[in-house]
Amino acid sequence: MPTPQRDFSQRQPDASNGMHSRSLLDTVSFSQDDILELFSKADELERRQNETGSFGDPSRKRVLALLFFEPSTRTRMSFQIAAERLGYSVVTLESAATSSLSKGESLSDTVLNVLAMRPDGLVVRYGKDDDLACLLPTLEIPIFSAGTGVLAHPTQALLDAYTIERICGVRDTRVLLVGDIRHSRVARSNFDVLGKLGAAVGICGPQEWLPAEPRKNVRVFSNLDEAAAWCDVYMGLRVQHERHAKAADVSAYNREFGLTASRLQILKKDAIIMHPGPINHGVEFSHEVMNDPRYRVLQQVTNGVLIRAALLARAFEDTGV
Ligand code: CP
Repeated sequence: MPTPQRDFSQRQPDASNGMHSRSLLDTVSFSQDDILELFSKADELERRQNETGSFGDPSRKRVLALLFFEPSTRTRMSFQIAAERLGYSVVTLESAATSSLSKGESLSDTVLNVLAMRPDGLVVRYGKDDDLACLLPTLEIPIFSAGTGVLAHPTQALLDAYTIERICGVRDTRVLLVGDIRHSRVARSNFDVLGKLGAAVGICGPQEWLPAEPRKNVRVFSNLDEAAAWCDVYMGLRVQHERHAKAADVSAYNREFGLTASRLQILKKDAIIMHPGPINHGVEFSHEVMNDPRYRVLQQVTNGVLIRAALLARAFEDTGV
């Protein structure tokens, strides 16, 4: 007998719609207290790692399934390292090419089949799939977004804020996001998290890559030199060529909107330079930037493991932190 087609068209990807309370598909459902509690868990896990070499000693073995329908290095590997340091096992679907997606299976069918194997949690990165967006919030195990199209990258924004919090505190800190804001899921999640933590947020970029609608409490700079002098945190964003209809002129972009050697002179002496990665060197950042003492990009990556471990520990309550 043929399997009936599921119709998810009436289900909205709404955090209140039956989603597991420890899932994280967007930061919108995360309060300021949730964020600060997560930061404390991350601090505690780091202390444990320094003392014992691992994050915990779980009494129950967990299996986490990572489903990456778009490429990733940092998010995928840091979820994996976080899970393994918590004592969990990890299984990974890395790409469409190596799975039955290449034979025409849909994303939502793939997820339903993986769920039928009874993992304890799912980490999912996907682009645009309405069925999947409707399906995920209905699942009964914790689901974590590892990046959802241009809509959300909650763990990236949380690790960004955690990095700023540890260096200089987020409240009243001036954070500048530069570049391809309109196509950036990182920017969207950062607007939410930084706003909740009381940062002053500014943006600068080519007119056609600024948000289509003005964002509340976000200052728009037309001149990057002025913006660079204003900020305490300079966050470059990747030019997302794969989401553009027309190829960008990267040399012109670097001159007008890149962090160049001359703009390094404009930044405050104690500013922080961040980027979610991957970086297009010579485009968002000139080559001098990664040798600047204010460059904190690898610290962001290290903190990504702590934040993702804290989210998993929070979901499964294994470590007692
Ligand atoms: N920042 C980020 O999401 O990097 P990856 O695409 O490598 O995971």
